[in-house]
Amino acid sequence: MNGHKRVRLMSVAGARPNFMKLASIAKAITEHNSNQSCIVPIEHIVVHTGQHYDAKMSTGFFSELGIPEPDINLGVGSASHAVQTAEIMKRFEPILLEYEPDVLLVVGDVNSTIACTLVASKVEYVNTNRKRPLIVHVEAGLRSNDRTMPEEINRILTDALSDILFVTERSGIDNLASEGVDPRKVRFVGNVMIDTLITHLEKAKKSDVKEKLALTVPYVLVTLHRPSNVDDNVVFERLINTIVSMSAWIKVVFPVHPRTLKKLESFGLLESLQKQTQIILTGPLGYLDFLNLISDSKMVVTDSGGIQEETTYLGIPCITLRENTERPVTVYEGTNYLIGINEVKFLETVENILNKKVKESKIPAFWDGNAGRRIVQEIVATFQ
Ligand code: UD1
Repeated sequence: MNGHKRVRLMSVAGARPNFMKLASIAKAITEHNSNQSCIVPIEHIVVHTGQHYDAKMSTGFFSELGIPEPDINLGVGSASHAVQTAEIMKRFEPILLEYEPDVLLVVGDVNSTIACTLVASKVEYVNTNRKRPLIVHVEAGLRSNDRTMPEEINRILTDALSDILFVTERSGIDNLASEGVDPRKVRFVGNVMIDTLITHLEKAKKSDVKEKLALTVPYVLVTLHRPSNVDDNVVFERLINTIVSMSAWIKVVFPVHPRTLKKLESFGLLESLQKQTQIILTGPLGYLDFLNLISDSKMVVTDSGGIQEETTYLGIPCITLRENTERPVTVYEGTNYLIGINEVKFLETVENILNKKVKESKIPAFWDGNAGRRIVQEIVATFQ
């Protein structure tokens, strides 16, 4: 590094899916700074809000993915949406004022994303020339058009307040245009989650997770945690019954999210599920173990956002138990089947996949491992 100008960039992560995205950004910043011709080095400050706090949902990912230890942990923990969001805001404002970063980078659509964006949009710096940081949103423009999803509210509001919006797929450009966002703020750069997948795939293939779980191929990998699926006992029980029906055809491995575990217990569904010999239940897994399970699975059944993208990249069929998706490219170009809560369609799709009746798919544009680099280049360009 031989320059004199330095950009101070603060990034925020809070919940599990944020960490994989941050990993790509952190790696691209390190690469940028170590480049001989770097004239605008980046000082990277990492804030963990503590929205997720269990080791299996949080800290484990930092070492596994090579993310620098957080400089600050706000330690907010779980609460209602309003309390969690407000608590992050209260604790984040003094940090922003202490560091006065040039850039605030937020990723994804969780409560930590909107909370910190909202603080940054109205903060008033006292020690630097700029009044507030440039707000950069990574994974902007995704829309499910379903405002009952807390994440959809977080996406719309974060995008409305951001200065640079980095999108992962073309639908993001159209969605932002239709909301009146100035197209000069929007950059189509690809998918940082896929960057991280590409970086770690070889290592993940060597994981011994299947031996540890006594799992043999073929199997289906299942994950469920959306409030719309697990918080309603009737819906959740129907889904569980369908998964049990599927397990008559093929083994199932089901890493259970903490929210989902609580609901299984409180609805009295856990005990009978544990008795199913064709279903292996486990706690949340590390990134490499989980990636290993996706990449060797026959198919994945999920309601996650990121997993729809990871399966598309890997060419693994994905059945999404939701009525809508904010990631339509995974349906139009990828391996994703959007099923909703429809047992008949669900089992029909499973049967088709088992009989190798699957649709053609391809990897979407720019999902090539370089999204983080493009983002860092764009940010640096605004300071040159
Ligand atoms: C959050 C995100 C969601 C993301 C998901 C990934 C929001 C609105 N939702 O949902 O978009 O897909 O993370 O996991 O930001 N819990 C623990 N340990 C933890 C974290 C949570 O036990 O480390 C339990 C708590 O009981 C908590 C519940 O899980 O009440 C839900 O956690 P919360 O952060 O509110 O939302 P998620 O469902 O994890």
